[in-house]
Amino acid sequence: MERIPEPELMEGKEQVISYDEADFSEGETDLINQINYYLMRKNISLNEKDLIVDLGCGPGNISEKLALKWPDTKVIGIDGSKEMILRAEYKKNISSNQKKLKNLHYICSDIKDIKLTNFLIKKKISLLVSNSLIHHITRLEDFFKVIKSLSCKITINFHKDLKRPLDEKSALELKAQCSNKYDEILTNDFYASLKASYTLKELKNFTLENNLSSLEVFEDGDKYLIVYGNL
Ligand SMILES: C[S@@+](CC[C@H](N)C(=O)[O-])C[C@H]1O[C@@H](n2cnc3c(N)ncnc32)[C@H](O)[C@@H]1O
Repeated sequence: MERIPEPELMEGKEQVISYDEADFSEGETDLINQINYYLMRKNISLNEKDLIVDLGCGPGNISEKLALKWPDTKVIGIDGSKEMILRAEYKKNISSNQKKLKNLHYICSDIKDIKLTNFLIKKKISLLVSNSLIHHITRLEDFFKVIKSLSCKITINFHKDLKRPLDEKSALELKAQCSNKYDEILTNDFYASLKASYTLKELKNFTLENNLSSLEVFEDGDKYLIVYGNL
């Protein structure tokens, strides 16, 4: 199936509310466990010296879970959508874990404009994460340029996203499954996201052709792709 890009930022108020109100907790917990597994495999334990950055953090679901899992480590969520960051800040403020989330901060910015000189990012990034972001980025080179510019020797990259289905029929089947669980706005967004997603081959070829082969690109089950490693 040919890729059909979707807008990078999720800025529509209804779209943001629909996304924020959906329950993705199962997948989010899986993601935190996966990250933990890969850190343990490398014998890395994060503490107050470290910094975690969550790119395209949306309403902050993953950022909050990262901040709770590693309470001594500063976590920064970045999103270019003002509505998403407002939502993330609001959720942090009303969270029953509010007191535990002192290590969590948000920045509203396009990831392409983020500089390591940003006052919040004073130290080297130990863990650079994204979930469901890559498919939003129109040009793959922009995504890899950003993670390359934010990474240093110690940075572990962990980016998970949807995998583009083989054909329209498979995309429609996944859309139908989504509609059983989520509202119409989210279902249509999910369908657009499936079409905008990259394939394993596209991501792998990009890393191989652009001197980024220190990153592993692999499938996670039949629906997701992971980009993992140091740069
Ligand atoms: C599908 S949501 C995922 C949100 C969150 N990572 C999660 O897993 O719940 C994708 C988010 O990426 C943000 N985004 C897309 N392109 C971006 C860019 N170029 N710069 C900053 N944020 C971006 C969108 O605004 C949106 O909030």
